[in-house]
Amino acid sequence: MLSLNNKKIILAVSGGIAAYKSALLLRLLIKQGARVQVVMTESAKEFVAPLTFQALSGEIVRSDLFDSAAEAGMGHIELAQWADLMIIAPATANTLAKITHGLADNLLTALCLTSKAPLLIAPAMNQQMWNNTTTQENVTKLSKKQSIFLCGPALGEQACGDSGYGRMEEPQKILQQGIKILENQTISSGLLKDRHILITAGPTIEDIDPVRYVTNRSSGKMGYAIAQAAINEGARVSLVSGPVCIEQPQKVEFYSIRSARQMHETVLKIVASADVFIATAAVADYRPASKRIQKLKKNSENLTIELIKNPDILADVAALANKPVTIGFAAETNDIEAYAIDKLKRKNLDMIAANQVGDAKGFEKDDNELYLFWHKDNEIQSKKLPLADKQILAKQLIEEIALSFTQDINIL
Ligand code: C5P
Repeated sequence: MLSLNNKKIILAVSGGIAAYKSALLLRLLIKQGARVQVVMTESAKEFVAPLTFQALSGEIVRSDLFDSAAEAGMGHIELAQWADLMIIAPATANTLAKITHGLADNLLTALCLTSKAPLLIAPAMNQQMWNNTTTQENVTKLSKKQSIFLCGPALGEQACGDSGYGRMEEPQKILQQGIKILENQTISSGLLKDRHILITAGPTIEDIDPVRYVTNRSSGKMGYAIAQAAINEGARVSLVSGPVCIEQPQKVEFYSIRSARQMHETVLKIVASADVFIATAAVADYRPASKRIQKLKKNSENLTIELIKNPDILADVAALANKPVTIGFAAETNDIEAYAIDKLKRKNLDMIAANQVGDAKGFEKDDNELYLFWHKDNEIQSKKLPLADKQILAKQLIEEIALSFTQDINIL
């Protein structure tokens, strides 16, 4: 099936040279099965003729807020309600500013106020305009909104000859993000609406000297997938992550850390407002007793590095008087059940998710299987989530957590 089959999309074009790339975006949307209504600002028409978009979409291009012919057919309020997704590409600095402040002086901006559909914005402007503090303040404000998503701008050469951030993202990328937004929307049932979920992910890095370190194998994929799944269910998500090579989910409050001690400090600062804490991070259990300022020289045949224990973040959260629902992960090479249950009890957890790791399993892979253990009525309950893509597993885990624990939490 086409990924946008019968999805209704408003493609709004504002006045920048990148408007010509929106014709390609329109083609891609239509190829994926979408029905697209193009809306243009007056200045957009200076760059591309409406007839181009009309020919590609098969629909009259809309521009005027007070277009009596159009209002007789589909009025602008109806148009706003019709859409499953609105994309603004390109979005100029002027249009971004208007949306931020709720202006509605043309059809595009009025639709932004009227539509409940998610809004995907692809900014495009001169790099100086993009870097301007006012534009940056506007973008920061917009990106905090639950239903607004930003794509780009990209880095590179600009039509004006400058170079920097300001190029409109490539149409293929905008298309992919639009598909992702709609997919996430359809799978959400708002199970974690108004909940605050705190998640740790990725490895921690413990420096030996400026070039060597101790770490654990971890891609961060499971933790990031859980963060995305929680966002899809309407949660506010704080993600405290060690260095990884994957893209952070949009809408998370992101905290980048390096060492276990930094992760510990950050988690304890945020945890008071969390309803649920999920520790997926592969925290290094030990760190070098001291970090050398200069690179160690290989002067001897043997080298001994003294390691000292890192704080146990999960155990410290579980020991708090006002602890959130606390969920740990256990990556084991053998005896999964026995080790997982021991950890559940020893660390005073509400649930533990265990998985087998080894050369062919767990690490860096896109799929996994999980064994869940939790207490209920003085007994240990268990459930197996069979081998599946980490994104599917994350959704199943979030549903289990939401149904088993968060129903009883009072929201302040
Ligand atoms: O004790 P162990 O490392 O096997 O426990 C694994 C669980 O504890 C994981 O959820 C991991 O994120 C968490 N953990 C932690 N701080 C540590 C070590 C592990 O939060 N220092």
